[in-house]
Amino acid sequence: MTQTNPIFHRLYRVLFLALISSYSFLHYACKTNPEAAPTGVVHNNAMVVSARIEASRIGMEVLKKGGNAFDAMIATEIALAAAYPFAGNLGGGGFMVYRMADGQTGTLDYREKAPLAAHRDMYLDSLGNPDPKLSRIGATAVGVPGTIAGIFAVHEKFGSLPMEELLAPTIALCEQGVVVTEKQAARLENYRDQILEVNGDSTVFSNSCKPGDTLRYAALAQTLRRISEGGRDEFYMGETAQVLSQFMKKRGGYITMEDLAQYEAVWRDPVTFQYRDLNVISMGPPSSGGITMQQILKMMEPYDVSDMGHHSAAGIQLFTEAARRAYADRNYYLGDPDFVEIPVSEITDPDYLQERMENYNPLKDTPSETISKGEIAMYESSETTHYSIVDQFGNAISATTTLNGAYGSKLYVQELGFFLNNEMDDFSAKPGEPNMFGLIGAEANSIAPGKRMLSSMTPTIVEKDGELWLVVGTPGGSTIITAVTQTILNVYEYGLSMQQAVEAPRFHHQWLPDMIIFEPEGFPESLKDSLITRGYIINQDRTPIIGKVDAIRVLKDGRLEAGADVRGDDAASGF
Ligand code: DON
Repeated sequence: MTQTNPIFHRLYRVLFLALISSYSFLHYACKTNPEAAPTGVVHNNAMVVSARIEASRIGMEVLKKGGNAFDAMIATEIALAAAYPFAGNLGGGGFMVYRMADGQTGTLDYREKAPLAAHRDMYLDSLGNPDPKLSRIGATAVGVPGTIAGIFAVHEKFGSLPMEELLAPTIALCEQGVVVTEKQAARLENYRDQILEVNGDSTVFSNSCKPGDTLRYAALAQTLRRISEGGRDEFYMGETAQVLSQFMKKRGGYITMEDLAQYEAVWRDPVTFQYRDLNVISMGPPSSGGITMQQILKMMEPYDVSDMGHHSAAGIQLFTEAARRAYADRNYYLGDPDFVEIPVSEITDPDYLQERMENYNPLKDTPSETISKGEIAMYESSETTHYSIVDQFGNAISATTTLNGAYGSKLYVQELGFFLNNEMDDFSAKPGEPNMFGLIGAEANSIAPGKRMLSSMTPTIVEKDGELWLVVGTPGGSTIITAVTQTILNVYEYGLSMQQAVEAPRFHHQWLPDMIIFEPEGFPESLKDSLITRGYIINQDRTPIIGKVDAIRVLKDGRLEAGADVRGDDAASGF
């Protein structure tokens, strides 16, 4: 190969990038796609979309009686603990992004924290290898829960109805019971052995149940009643804290009264960036969601994405190459901002991102570095849950909440009526080793006392022409970021309705393992063949589904269209 003078090479590259940028700016700066007719549930004033109709309805009723989106967020978040114990929780944590009717935005971090007794090597065995069981199952896997602190922080700042009124519908639901759906019965059956192994046979989930059965949660109702009377401190310092910390001690966990007393939810600035004429508002660290989505979209922006066609080989390839590069940065640079310095402006700098795509070849894959060790576990990963809310005043909430794995650590506090998370597995137990999502972590996400584990949760709000346009988010572990990004692209670049965008099949790439993961249904063989020809490894066995997106689109006439994912029992409720 002829060697070019490096100065010329650099000059050439700068010119090339300037050309691409100005061309793309002129050509693709604004999409003028006609608005897709809605195909999802449509309401005129307000909407709540969540994993279960019971939770959506409880949120909607709060709005109907004059509450705002923040009141509805509190009611929905707690309702999910009863209606969707798979992921809804009091024993986990989450993130919320909001946009007020006047355009003000912000985020709340109610992510779990490592207990004070945690330390860097706590999940390594005597040979120095991670023992996944310790960070995934039972008491040792549990991070300090943030959900109750989260709802009280929201209430203090933005709530308009008394907390008792927001908790009361869930207390009633616990008592009157939740009817088991077919999907829920299948999930419970799937995890019953593990739940039995961790808890014995004394919990409400020990018995096999079938669709149509009713599950009642008396202990959860009792806990909520105490919280309703005693407030936030009841959970973090009161009787609930006593019961929880004693239970942890008995079961060999680390969380103490001191851990609970020290927990605080944190208001943080959102990650905000432009993609063409959209303004995207999303979650920043300790979630990787916002920054990684920003990297993916900004790397794609110079290309005519819509012209490539929805689910074309070229479009999937471009997305994959952008995602590969973004996840490589994610895994290396991102962690809890209260503990590590994150070079945010450097890794989101437009020139840097253009340079990252310099070796992108539209005819061939760019192989990721080889994984140093280990096969990655394969399983369905949609155990978090997301809900989206728009109220009758124009306020919007996008919130994702989680226990991490299905039913979290599987450890159920029978006396209090809830599951505890296994969020500690989101840390990098040992740099270079994959966690349960196959994510390879680095130093930035190593374990330390009081530190928050890096997340992929990506609650997001999108503005168009300065107005609220989309509210979107999903569960799915490491696939959350790509699922949210694809949903936005589906509406914006490919002209799908909100419901169609949510239902469209999804694919995923996360740098390592170096493969495009496809949902097994919905992509033609010819498409996959053409990607294989370009050098890509296709995996369709890793997961039956990618994400369960719950979203809302504001139509031009002001009506709201829901996107409720048919992959779950997800449902919209509004008026
Ligand atoms: O915060 C995170 O990124 C994970 N704990 C989310 C887990 C999740 O989405 C579960 N479903 N796969």
